[in-house]
Amino acid sequence: MVNGVVPAYSACIEAFCPNDEDEVIVQTPIYPPLFKCVQSNNRKVVVNELKEENGYYTMDLEDLKAKITKNTKVLALCSPHNPVGRVWNKEELEDLAQICKENNIIIISDEIHSDITFKKFIPLASISKEISDITITLNSAGKTFNIAGLNTAYAISHNPKLLEIFKKVSQKRQINSINFFGYIATQAAYENGAEFVSQLKKYIQNNIELTKNYLKINNLPIEFNEPEATYLIWLCFKNTQLSHKEIKEKLLTESKLALNDGVSFGSNGYSYFRLNTAVNKERLHEALRKLSKAF
Ligand SMILES: Cc1ncc(COP(=O)(O)O)c(C=O)c1O
Repeated sequence: MVNGVVPAYSACIEAFCPNDEDEVIVQTPIYPPLFKCVQSNNRKVVVNELKEENGYYTMDLEDLKAKITKNTKVLALCSPHNPVGRVWNKEELEDLAQICKENNIIIISDEIHSDITFKKFIPLASISKEISDITITLNSAGKTFNIAGLNTAYAISHNPKLLEIFKKVSQKRQINSINFFGYIATQAAYENGAEFVSQLKKYIQNNIELTKNYLKINNLPIEFNEPEATYLIWLCFKNTQLSHKEIKEKLLTESKLALNDGVSFGSNGYSYFRLNTAVNKERLHEALRKLSKAF
């Protein structure tokens, strides 16, 4: 157990990138700490942008192969992917893992959004022994059960060598002492939370549907692809014909909405902002009304 997915990820960077010149590949747009932790550990971030077609994102494996060097030690996988909402399918994961295996790259698979999925989710390490041997999986009940404040997460690997190296760093960083409430809450959530998760997923799906219909009925120049996972919506403002700065300004001053700035997820986040739909329906409706005022 560890006191957060992000602290565990940062420890992984230290553990598996021991040399100054070591490199970590991240697939942008991506949850910002997955590249910020690399920088704060003084290691090099190598960007493998996701490919986008009509709002649907896939991995660019040709670009990935081209970006690998002798210094590439780790690939950060966000599965399901925050912010684009993809649940990677088996073939995508196998192809990615094959490349990593051939190049001795360890995959850190951040699976924190895996409970809130609207299609079949496949944990990376469950695919095969070969893949589990190069994988460290990070997860937590924090997102699903809204208990992130309890700072409790866990790291799993079927490879004892990887786990040993990780454990040494996590002990050194003191991230492996968990508060008592975190243990109990995580256990209670996993043992008794199935009905809650099922209702939560329905509520989120309705909110996503509400957002889609609202944008359509009101003819707003804002689009998104329905996420396959999570409550996060990656809104595309390209049709507004405004610059990123102008969109942000309008959101803040006219709509009075502080959506997450797409650029913070990587340089391919221009003209995008992330909306969190894990709120009650009335609040979401109010946010959409405010949005329509400015656009
Ligand atoms: C992909 C991803 N990983 C990790 C986290 C945070 O995890 P923790 O609070 O356990 O550090 C988040 C929260 O937004 C997330 O979206």
